[in-house]
Amino acid sequence: AIIPVVLCGGSGSRLWPASREAHPKQFLAFTGDKSLFQDTLARVRGPAFDRPIVVTGSDYRFLVAEQMRAIGVKGEIVLEPMRRDSCAAIAAAAEIAKARDPQAIVLVLAADHAIPDIKSFLDHVARGAAAAEAGRIVVFGIRPSRPATGYGYIRPGATTAQAGVAEVAAFVEKPDQATAETYVADGYLWNSGNFLFRATDFLGELERLAPEIGRPVGEAVAKAARDLDFLRLDPEAFGRAVSKSVDYAVMEKTSKAAVVPSDFVWSDVGAWNAIWNLADKDENGNAAQGDAVFLDAENSYVHSPDRLTAVVGVEDVIVVVTRDAVLVVGREQAEKVKTLVARLSASG
Ligand code: GDD
Ligand code: MG
Repeated sequence: AIIPVVLCGGSGSRLWPASREAHPKQFLAFTGDKSLFQDTLARVRGPAFDRPIVVTGSDYRFLVAEQMRAIGVKGEIVLEPMRRDSCAAIAAAAEIAKARDPQAIVLVLAADHAIPDIKSFLDHVARGAAAAEAGRIVVFGIRPSRPATGYGYIRPGATTAQAGVAEVAAFVEKPDQATAETYVADGYLWNSGNFLFRATDFLGELERLAPEIGRPVGEAVAKAARDLDFLRLDPEAFGRAVSKSVDYAVMEKTSKAAVVPSDFVWSDVGAWNAIWNLADKDENGNAAQGDAVFLDAENSYVHSPDRLTAVVGVEDVIVVVTRDAVLVVGREQAEKVKTLVARLSASG
């Protein structure tokens, strides 16, 4: 069985004021009654999967445990004493998976993505698993809809021995705008942020390409302390790991990468406009999470879990109402919330 690894790190500042440092976006529900984290766990519940490993910051341990309990999922909750980015988190999970089963195949999932069609996703995973068995580090390539600069770009190469899996001819993390434009024109794919590999293959590449991450993390797992349901990584050893994302540390450099060109619907739920895009809309293009009324409004979105919010006579507006803050933003301007949050935290 495949061991799912859920990365539960980030903060998601573009979804302010719903997403906060203390309660980041993966713990929020946007399109149904389950959070993105719970949806992620639900994606990998079938017989093809073993008990999941969730890697998260120790501040989030009770949120994680409670949200898992609420959907009846039991798993290993691994706590990071400090943030060391995705490569260290994946390395820790790979060590733990390898200890469980030396042949373990691991599926790394971001906790904050929306993939509504589970069956289609699992079909792609099955295709990738054959390549992972053959020693490849597999990524899933999404056809780009715009020259976004916040993604990894993959140039698919020749087909491999596994059906529906191609070589990765190049992997470039977060190119600049002009480069992203040429990549989109040249048929590059976005990296979806999910990874599939045999734990020992990943750890081997880490030893070769980034021992400054692999070694201290290996020590942090060896010296980890069990605390109730949690596994606490050793703070001294983990703190020595270099902070780098897996994309820069491994994916740009490895020659073992392979890509499953993918056509499941995928969103990394970056900003409010992405949530409007994902939501079920009424005949006027409006959608809401929580309690909302629309009158003569079009293509708008309300997120208001605690109080009634009415939107009248406007188009392309997003309204977010939380207990202590209200956001009103033009739908096409939703990316600017990141700048806003930076300004708010700078002014204290
Ligand atoms: N546990 C843990 N600890 N998880 C982390 C940490 C950490 O220190 N840092 C990041 N993560 C988790 C995030 O919660 C998220 O689920 C995932 O790792 C990816 O991290 P992001 O910070 O969101 O990365 P990104 O969005 O800039 O880029 C990645 O995702 C893109 C797709 O959304 C890359 O993999 C890109 O190549 C990819 O296109
Ligand atoms: Mg992300």
